[in-house]
Amino acid sequence: MTAPPSTSPLISIEAALTTDRTIADASATATIRPVYIETYGCQMNVADTELVASILREAGYRIVNEVEAADIILINTCAVRENAEERVFGRVSQLYGLRARNPGLTIGILGCMAQHLAAELPQRAPFVDLVMGPDSYRRLPAILAQTSDETLLDVRLSRAENYVGVEPSRKTGTNAWVTIIRGCDKFCTFCIVPFVRGRERSLDSGEILHQVHNIAAEGFREVTLLGQTVNSYNDGHTDFADLLRTVAAVDGIERVRFTSPYPRDFTARTIEAMAQTAEVCPALHLPVQSGSDQQLDAMQRGYSIAEYRDLVSKLRQAIPNLAMTTDIMVGFCGETEENFRETCELMEGLRFDSAFMFKYSERSGTQAHRAIADDIPESVKGERLTRIIKLQESISSEINQKWIGKTVEVLVEGVSKRPAADGSATSFGRSLQAKTVIFPEMAAPNSIVQVRVHSSTSHTLMGTLVV
Ligand code: 5AD
Repeated sequence: MTAPPSTSPLISIEAALTTDRTIADASATATIRPVYIETYGCQMNVADTELVASILREAGYRIVNEVEAADIILINTCAVRENAEERVFGRVSQLYGLRARNPGLTIGILGCMAQHLAAELPQRAPFVDLVMGPDSYRRLPAILAQTSDETLLDVRLSRAENYVGVEPSRKTGTNAWVTIIRGCDKFCTFCIVPFVRGRERSLDSGEILHQVHNIAAEGFREVTLLGQTVNSYNDGHTDFADLLRTVAAVDGIERVRFTSPYPRDFTARTIEAMAQTAEVCPALHLPVQSGSDQQLDAMQRGYSIAEYRDLVSKLRQAIPNLAMTTDIMVGFCGETEENFRETCELMEGLRFDSAFMFKYSERSGTQAHRAIADDIPESVKGERLTRIIKLQESISSEINQKWIGKTVEVLVEGVSKRPAADGSATSFGRSLQAKTVIFPEMAAPNSIVQVRVHSSTSHTLMGTLVV
């Protein structure tokens, strides 16, 4: 996993979905409304965009990669922090400008922010035509077929919607996302997710295996299992540990990853399954949030720092060369300088490979918003964030330096955005530990190669191909 280079929590992923080639002739093209989808937020949103694309294609729509070519623009959004939502408001106002050229342009907001701000969105962005939450996507074609002067809202949450039978329109590449559990029942006091993604429900393991077989047949070598609390998976017959083993056993699947597990639900059986299954990569993102028991209590995380440390030591004992990453939130309600120092100590002690670090952002509807004061001044939050990023950067650099001189197995993704010093193109891919590896030789995307590391930064390993 790549660590964030800055404090910006948002990843904007343009849904680089391949343009549908099923359209037979030009007359058909004229009647089919082209759709452009832009995705913000976590990997689950990326996976949801693949569902939306599939549902729309089934209904006869065409997915395009250029916003200017679209008749319908859908923004799949995040609500986890306020700046995620502000950024989307900025983006939709900008997109509204396109309507001058195309008066029939439909603009829709999908996903977590749509769910969170359904009541205020029509006032704040009256030009938005539709607002749909994460459980409403099957009804998207029906909503798009309606015409109305009012913003159309569909934000009903469902206890059952798992999009069974919808085969996601996966982006071609090396990694396929598979959502195995939707929603969240943890209700951490700071978190909006249970309110915007609804109750936890696991997809039937038969359906998951069906998807993984298709993924392997399409040529993907890597699968990442997704869920807000992915290791809480249980469909009534199969738990997460067993699912890992079964997915890894599918022919053609060589790398299995998952994100994000919840510390309290991490079982000995899962550690054992990871350790005993060669295809399960030695890389784990395990959000800790804080190094202070007092803060973890206020967040209602349901574990203590001693328990978290114990879990990490069991994982590291069982899985050689395990790369660990985490999420840290600074400036949550009541966080004292002493609490923050405990977080720094935890980071120094556990030495994560990298971390996503955030300032607490109060979210309406959460327990913290209702019951605890957001009392840490913005300046203090900012200062703590800067300090912890600096600390983590130096740890990440030191850890990556240990790879120098070693040969790593890389699943090639393609041509890197970062050219060599002389301007020539470089290739990039990921190591088993999910580190980005850059090398000057050209290698076919989706091939697995060996790269000898000669240098590193806090985010990247650089090396040369070993033949
Ligand atoms: N403010 C800041 N960060 C948050 N996260 C979740 N909710 C908030 C919030 N209200 C962070 C947590 C979580 C990650 C996905 O986002 O660290 O693990």
